[in-house]
Amino acid sequence: MSVTRSAITGVGGYLPDEVVTNTDLSKLVDTSDAWIIERTGIRERRRAAKDQATSDLAVEAARRALVASGRTAEEIDLIIVATTTPDLTFPATASIVQKKLGCPVAPAFDVQAVCSGFVYALSVADGFVARGLAKCALVIGAECMTRLLDFTDRGTCVLFGDGAGAVIMEPVAGRGDTHDTGLLGFALRCDGTKGDILYVDGGPSTTGTVGHLRMMGQQVFKNAVVNITEAVEACAASAGFKVSDVDWFVPHQANQRILAGVAARLGISEDKVVSTVAHHANTSAASIPLALAEAISDGRISKGQLVLVEAMGGGLTWGACAFRL
Ligand code: ACO
Repeated sequence: MSVTRSAITGVGGYLPDEVVTNTDLSKLVDTSDAWIIERTGIRERRRAAKDQATSDLAVEAARRALVASGRTAEEIDLIIVATTTPDLTFPATASIVQKKLGCPVAPAFDVQAVCSGFVYALSVADGFVARGLAKCALVIGAECMTRLLDFTDRGTCVLFGDGAGAVIMEPVAGRGDTHDTGLLGFALRCDGTKGDILYVDGGPSTTGTVGHLRMMGQQVFKNAVVNITEAVEACAASAGFKVSDVDWFVPHQANQRILAGVAARLGISEDKVVSTVAHHANTSAASIPLALAEAISDGRISKGQLVLVEAMGGGLTWGACAFRL
């Protein structure tokens, strides 16, 4: 059977210049480098400059993804930005990215699923590309998470950082089996009844403020390991392969202990799991494309390999998405 798949043809990542170490944060709150490394695996994170907005980070990542794919901004006919830290309440950050890159008039919108945003956005883009509605889609995860942090709360302010990652997706012909290049399957979930364990306490229609990130860390941890495991298994089943067939797992980079917990439950060797959390902390929707970009550029992930990305975040939302590069 001949089918059209949406293939990832270029990936790019961008981290802002300013490095904030654990020791830097220990001057603001009662914490230590040793505590943060032991509980999270995080060593440092990046902070966007005062004059950098989420769209600026997104544009840098997008330019790198365009170069990697050999495409130009003029060819982009769909932009989806996954972000929970938009430049403005509106217009969407995707509209601002379109203007800054000089892309032609075409659909551009944001997806808001917090840390799961990139997994959601890939799945939405697949709906356009595999149906022939877009020929060169730009899918970005971009965040200025440090703007949401309460720097008096040691339970949250050590966990997050700023960054962006982007992919270009293009149609490719396949046979309809798991050997095809391109997106092969996904599983998306949301359980709104657990929204109160990870949220921001402000918004335009409630407080009229941006608010700060609030979290019940242990509850988030337990839900993450159970939910992500379920989504990975559902994603593999929907695409028709076994979890053990996957060459590389590229998880949302929240916490090294969550990565290890999921790998243990799934019986995956940790050397198949890409981990970059140590040097950029949790960049929410940006973390998967950032990790993907790094693992492709250093030669770990190569063309033809089966890759599975997964995430859980505020909502609670969670999901997984599998593709052959
Ligand atoms: N430095 C030092 N001590 C701290 C810090 C810190 N930065 N943060 C919390 N503590 C203290 C607490 O106050 C508590 O002290 P107490 O015993 O005197 O009350 C003690 O450490 C233990 O607190 P716990 O919350 O039980 O610590 P835990 O081992 O659960 O680690 C952590 C906390 C790292 C937040 C963990 O729960 C976690 O990783 N949760 C997942 C959070 C996450 O990744 N969120 C990201 C968004 S969701 C996602 O992306 C999947």
